[in-house]
Amino acid sequence: MNPPVHVVTLDGPSGSGKGTISRAVARRLGWHLLDSGALYRLVALAGIERGLEPGNVQAHARLAGTMAVRFEAARDVEHVLLEGREVTDAIRTEEVGQSASRVAAWPAVREALLERQRAFAVPPGLVADGRDMGTVVFPQAPLKIFLTASPEERARRRYNQLKQKGSGASLSALSREIAERDARDSSRATAPLVPAPDAVVIDSTRLDVEAVLAQVIELGRQRALWA
Ligand code: DC
Repeated sequence: MNPPVHVVTLDGPSGSGKGTISRAVARRLGWHLLDSGALYRLVALAGIERGLEPGNVQAHARLAGTMAVRFEAARDVEHVLLEGREVTDAIRTEEVGQSASRVAAWPAVREALLERQRAFAVPPGLVADGRDMGTVVFPQAPLKIFLTASPEERARRRYNQLKQKGSGASLSALSREIAERDARDSSRATAPLVPAPDAVVIDSTRLDVEAVLAQVIELGRQRALWA
């Protein structure tokens, strides 16, 4: 039997910085990256494009199991392709994010994505970013991080991100949307957003990217996952 592939899981709410940290850890180690949120966003986008009823669970679950998805790292940008089409920006809108959070509450959709996600665990290792990476998808991972930040700080980060991209948004509307999404992601019956019992919780409210990255790298060293 092949030795198990090392997996580091990074879970947490939107705006906690886990996307940025996961990418940085993967790059530092030369490991693969799973952006599981992108998979839920792809299901949501494919559903919107096909004009599916927002409540049609079975049709969304079928899409989750059959859609053709590719992630391609080019320079510093991770390109996302759906059925061969570039949808890197299209999956990042608030509309798709809200819809992703709804479809992610359905067990049939989560089940359809489970093996797809596990297939990302190939040598030399995987950094898995999401909400249930440590609790459901990779429960055996030797290092699990749960990254949080205050809701105000998370709304502020999202606001700055959007401003950089040139899209307008109001801070109060973003705060409201983040609170709604948090409530839905944390209260759903299947794979809610909670830290795994053996996760290390890092609050990044007052930490910059470098400081969080340093903590994660040190934790992996202590566990002899890397030198
Ligand atoms: O991390 P994100 O904002 O791209 O995720 C989009 C939505 O997908 C989020 O509202 C919750 C859901 N999600 C999930 O339920 N489980 C995951 N592992 C990743 C994302």
